[in-house]
Amino acid sequence: MSRKGSPNTLLQSKTIGGQAAEDMIELDRNRMPEHVAIIMDGNGRWAKQRGIPRLAGHRAGMEAMKKIVDHSDKLGIKYLTVYAFSTENWRRSMEEVSGIFKLLVTFVNRDLRELIRNNVRVKVLGDYSTIPADSKEALERTLAGTKEDTGLQFNIALNYGGRDEIRRSVARIAERVAAGEVKPADITEDMIGAGLWTGSEHADLPDPELIIRTSGEERLSNFLLWQGAYSELVFSDVLWPDFTPGEYEKCIAAYQSRDRRFGGRK
Ligand code: FPP
Repeated sequence: MSRKGSPNTLLQSKTIGGQAAEDMIELDRNRMPEHVAIIMDGNGRWAKQRGIPRLAGHRAGMEAMKKIVDHSDKLGIKYLTVYAFSTENWRRSMEEVSGIFKLLVTFVNRDLRELIRNNVRVKVLGDYSTIPADSKEALERTLAGTKEDTGLQFNIALNYGGRDEIRRSVARIAERVAAGEVKPADITEDMIGAGLWTGSEHADLPDPELIIRTSGEERLSNFLLWQGAYSELVFSDVLWPDFTPGEYEKCIAAYQSRDRRFGGRK
């Protein structure tokens, strides 16, 4: 990456016809999103286009994910959240489900030392108690090994569902109401938010300013439904395994061009 102009401007380099040329994507360092969330879609189609097994697509997806973690850190993004496995993904074949969890173990075993070296703190959003024992153990090693890190916080949404987390949070509040600790009229949005996987009772994250979905699909698919109320949505046609740091910067540039009003007026 090269720099031009003010120190607050990032300029992306691109190779055209074998020659390095600067394209026009400039990122404003002062307007970087603090929290970016990504729906990593298209691994299956990427594999199908190549006539290879779906799992090979997920493996390529894992490599793409690794590069985006590194690049988020370089861009000074504080929180990166990826949708790795939803509460609905259990409906896929046993082979695919167990393959995705094996990839998780590969990622953790291979990259844990590097994550620690880069000061990346890993957290999980979702109830991972039901995932295969070896994946759970590898994940817990990573959470413990990186918990003191103070750099990029990398959140893996695993067995995560937006509706499911709202239901869980509301159920806990209902218990407090039943116990006479809280009156229904005193229930606040903050109380519901606190009990979500992203809330102060768990990972403690700000809402994402930017949610990216790859592969040309344009829906949230049960991802960060509550937290995404005012997120900017950016859709990329690129299939996830082909999603490069350059594509990532294009999505951030699209975010920076948006006018955010949060329901108010300028
Ligand atoms: C969506 O593509 C992707 C997933 C459901 C899994 C995401 C997993 C990874 C990127 C790799 C592993 C990551 C970790 C943290 C282990 P899709 O299969 O729905 O693609 P399709 O819509 O083209 O079929």
